[in-house]
Amino acid sequence: MIILAALDLDLLIVIQLSVNTLKSKNILSSMALALVAQRQSKGLLISLQISSLEISPFLQRLISRGLRIVHHLEMRLVQKAHEFITTVLKESASAIDMTCGNGMDSLFLARIVGERGNVYAFDIQEEAISRTKELLQENNCASQANLFKACHSQIELYLPQEIKGHVNSITMNLGYLPKGNHDISTRSKTTIPAMLTAYDWMQSGGVMTVIAYRGHKGGKEEAEEVRKLINEKKWKLSLDQGRKKADSPLLYMISKL
Ligand SMILES: C[S@@+](CC[C@H](N)C(=O)[O-])C[C@H]1O[C@@H](n2cnc3c(N)ncnc32)[C@H](O)[C@@H]1O
Repeated sequence: MIILAALDLDLLIVIQLSVNTLKSKNILSSMALALVAQRQSKGLLISLQISSLEISPFLQRLISRGLRIVHHLEMRLVQKAHEFITTVLKESASAIDMTCGNGMDSLFLARIVGERGNVYAFDIQEEAISRTKELLQENNCASQANLFKACHSQIELYLPQEIKGHVNSITMNLGYLPKGNHDISTRSKTTIPAMLTAYDWMQSGGVMTVIAYRGHKGGKEEAEEVRKLINEKKWKLSLDQGRKKADSPLLYMISKL
């Protein structure tokens, strides 16, 4: 995988790195973080040649510190969704993870909003809630997280009324829990009402990302229902079709005007 990332479009520095082993990943991580910290030096292009997708937590840390991905090959949709959210999500804000699963999205949101912000995370499975809780605790991000074992179509029953119309960012990563029970999956019957409610709670200028997987039973229909809803409501949409195969996942990036 090759990724080009920039902090500024006036490029002053070009770094090329190959990352193959865990050791070199760690070295790269500290180097790149140090460079990101000096971004006032104006302009930085990092060209990363990455052989393994295990690097993704590292990229997420860079993205949450302001790194902009300007070109990528085979970048995972979840990273693209995070990059999109980074353009609007700020410290102290409120964010919702509609399907917290293993907690990666919740952690991403919690790192950005910090201790003065709030992440509200939902999942119908106890296993997902406990995995998310553990991940947040391990990363010292538990204090800004509010976890609910509940269906996302019921968020109104759990969110504090004062954040209505003030939610900055929402992630909705559909499908089943990886390394969990694949028969328990999101369904359009609840996904669509959940999206409608979530959009209502968003502030103007806020964003919602929805990743729809089409490879499992019911996935294609769910992705199609999501598309229909967005069209019908005329929501502002940017669509990333990933690898453009019939069953590859889709990333819907919705902005509230
Ligand atoms: C692809 S996983 C989410 C991945 C997660 N965002 C992460 O960062 O690891 C999808 C999750 O949706 C959850 N889910 C399924 N139906 C749901 C519903 N109606 N309300 C909330 N969560 C649901 C599943 O239990 C599963 O954990």
